[in-house]
Amino acid sequence: MYHEKMTEASSTQQESPAAQQVTGLEQEYLLQNYSRYPIVVHRGKGCYLYDINGKRYLDLIAGIGVNALGHAHPRIIRVIRAQAALLMHCSNLYYHEYQGPLAKKLAEVSGLQRTFFSNSGTEAVEGALKMARGHGGKISPDKFEVISLDNSFHGRSLGALSITGQPKYRKDFEPLLPGVRFVPRNDVAALEAAFSERTACVILEWIQGEGGIYPLTVEYARRARELADQYNALLIFDEIQCGVGRPGKYFAYQLAEPAVMPDVLVAAKPIACGLPLGVIVANERAAAGIGPGMHGATFGGGPLACRVALEFFEILDGMLPHIHHVGGCFRQELSELGRHFSFIKDVRGYGLMIGMELDIPGKQIVLDGMAQGLMFNCTHDTVLRFLPPYIITEPEVDKAIQVLTRILKKI
Ligand SMILES: Cc1ncc(COP(=O)(O)O)c(C=O)c1O
Repeated sequence: MYHEKMTEASSTQQESPAAQQVTGLEQEYLLQNYSRYPIVVHRGKGCYLYDINGKRYLDLIAGIGVNALGHAHPRIIRVIRAQAALLMHCSNLYYHEYQGPLAKKLAEVSGLQRTFFSNSGTEAVEGALKMARGHGGKISPDKFEVISLDNSFHGRSLGALSITGQPKYRKDFEPLLPGVRFVPRNDVAALEAAFSERTACVILEWIQGEGGIYPLTVEYARRARELADQYNALLIFDEIQCGVGRPGKYFAYQLAEPAVMPDVLVAAKPIACGLPLGVIVANERAAAGIGPGMHGATFGGGPLACRVALEFFEILDGMLPHIHHVGGCFRQELSELGRHFSFIKDVRGYGLMIGMELDIPGKQIVLDGMAQGLMFNCTHDTVLRFLPPYIITEPEVDKAIQVLTRILKKI
């Protein structure tokens, strides 16, 4: 009963003529691949978004982990304006002033040496797969297998889909790349059994994002490191969702002490604060897998995105303790809710990457949140996912918890 009423309330939000015009045009002219929530977003400021009708939402999803500094951050606006007036694109035929300094910064914060710039996470995954093929191919033509995890998500191109361990994304596009072995997360024996001389790489999300915010254990990651060394394979960490400050460290593999170093790191989402930019960062051994002419991208690493990313890292350098602290508060308050509502099964995550697992579907709660001015989403059907901007404050977290409590009480 409650759900029916709330669905009605949330679906009426966008029925203004301006909203109808937007949704009507999309229905007529766009590929119908997205099932969008009924909100037309117009602008953002700080941790808030405003829809086309002027309604305000506290943004706890940040464009699925992209808007790390919230919306309309003054320092980001300033560098975009300055760089847009100077040079937006020049292609990778030439040098510009920002790729080198950004790659140096990435080397400093990651402990890896060489960067390739792409436009998205998927593209970074594709490049990393090519790097692994290049690495394996130099050793033996049979060394091309990839080990990946059940329940993982690495993107939607054919290569990235081939190593994504969720049948719902793969089923319409098979056959995909051969030589991929899926193993269950945190099962050391299964990982050991999957490795062989044919293994070119193993790719792991330190915290599975789309799969429902499931972290790896440190022991598992360390064993993956040992096995990759033993079989001369590459260890690739996909930190597209879980990295670049979100866990309260630059990268999630730094949560372990000492860090479990990958050979290759792929990252994207927050790096250029909403401009498309992905990175592959590799040690020398892995980077040798890609020689001259073997890879490239027209837009990758343009001056605008790279300059914004440099500014982002300058801001992020001072923010990691805040992310750790405010993320801890958020997780604690969500866990507290878990003591009051029996349908909450678990609260997990690191820093500002938090999942609340329910034993009921989460979609209606997301719609109810929107009706009450709160934006988050649900992944894997039953996991409410919170990826707020890094600038979120404790009072904003408290406010979110108040609203969420109100919603959950009605269930
Ligand atoms: C872990 C992970 N890998 C890869 C991707 C694909 O990145 P993109 O959507 O930027 O292509 C995503 C996107 O959500 C992701 O979460």
